Amino acid sequence: MKVLVTGGAGFIGSNFVLYWLKNHPDDHVINVDKLTYAGNLENLASAHDNPNHHFVRADIGDSAAMTKALEGVDTVVHFAAESHVDRSIMTPTLFLETNVVGTQVLLEAAYKNKVSRFHHISTDEVFGSLELNSDTKFNEHTPYNPHSPYAASKAGSDHIVRAYHDTYGLPITISNCSNNFGPYHFPEKLIPLAITNLIEGKKVPIYGDGLYVRDWLFVEDHCRAIDMILEKGVVGETYCIGSMTRDMPNREIIRDICRIMEKNYDESVEQVKDRPGHDRRYAIDFSKIKNELGWEPKFDFSTALKYTIDWYTNNQDWWKHVKSGEYQKYYQQQYAS
Ligand code: NAD
Ligand code: DAU
Repeated sequence: MKVLVTGGAGFIGSNFVLYWLKNHPDDHVINVDKLTYAGNLENLASAHDNPNHHFVRADIGDSAAMTKALEGVDTVVHFAAESHVDRSIMTPTLFLETNVVGTQVLLEAAYKNKVSRFHHISTDEVFGSLELNSDTKFNEHTPYNPHSPYAASKAGSDHIVRAYHDTYGLPITISNCSNNFGPYHFPEKLIPLAITNLIEGKKVPIYGDGLYVRDWLFVEDHCRAIDMILEKGVVGETYCIGSMTRDMPNREIIRDICRIMEKNYDESVEQVKDRPGHDRRYAIDFSKIKNELGWEPKFDFSTALKYTIDWYTNNQDWWKHVKSGEYQKYYQQQYAS
């Protein structure tokens, strides 16, 4: 089988490419990535000599390049996106260009090439925010209510993917996943930012009161869920993925990281100004994918967190390289006050 992965040099995309090459050794993977600040070919170093991995540097918004890359492709797994909420507050237009228009260009090329499956990777952020201390969770029937430009652009991408199914019969599936963490996670996101700042002897910035809740999932569990959707999922359907953790506010996550890294919490954090439009709580009800496809998280949070901290401790060259240059400008701008 020929699988085209977009965004396969980013965090989840590169984990997925490595997962796929390992678990489907007879398949060919075409990895299309623009290599924005978040794309990094070092993530794919272990696939460098694998003849079944073909890297193409291209923008998903480039219709001719997408039509060519999609020749003979059976399955598309679409990760490519601008993915960071804080950057979407600074530069919303880029998020609409890549996440909405880019997705439509890719869909059109996939439709012309008659792919047998187009799987779209989306997020739980499209559903908006839940109340703290409630039992409510997001599921496949939760109405869309995005708040950040990032979430709104992902919501737009979900709608255009469904439109290509309903209007043109493109065989799509969609998954809405919660917050991932693990190796190759770009250190602008909370968990890798905290770990790398602590290794560097810097403080961890906590937005507002720090009582915001995310539903964390180890990245390998996400990759396995996508594999199961491709294998057994029903065309036209959506699947919610997540729920490794009970409700854990950001402060508790950072406290756990400090404990494992033997740092004093009170001396290691600083409260900074809150994110505008900050969603209070996310939580996923994963009953559908569990009951219909037999997926559930395999990893427990503390083991996966310890594994992730060890990975960042043992791969300092990777993130020190990433944290130089453009990252420094971004960090100054984001955390200036
Ligand atoms: P990331 O920012 O680490 O990687 C995104 C990748 O897409 C990068 O390699 C980048 O170079 C590439 N890219 C960006 N614009 C492109 C373009 N125009 N053309 C081609 N490539 C382009 O993102 P991530 O955290 O790995 O997220 C991947 C996908 O998963 C996104 O669609 C995101 O919305 C979704 N998602 C992420 C999470 C999470 O917790 N990180 C959770 C749920 C869903
Ligand atoms: O829910 C899935 C989403 O998770 C994905 O769709 C996004 O691509 C991904 O970036 C992530 O979005 P979040 O905004 O939830 O992740 P982030 O790591 O940026 O923030 C997690 C929480 O930590 C959130 O409540 C904001 C807070 N935070 C974040 C940063 C970067 C801080 O308190 N301080 C920080 O410096």
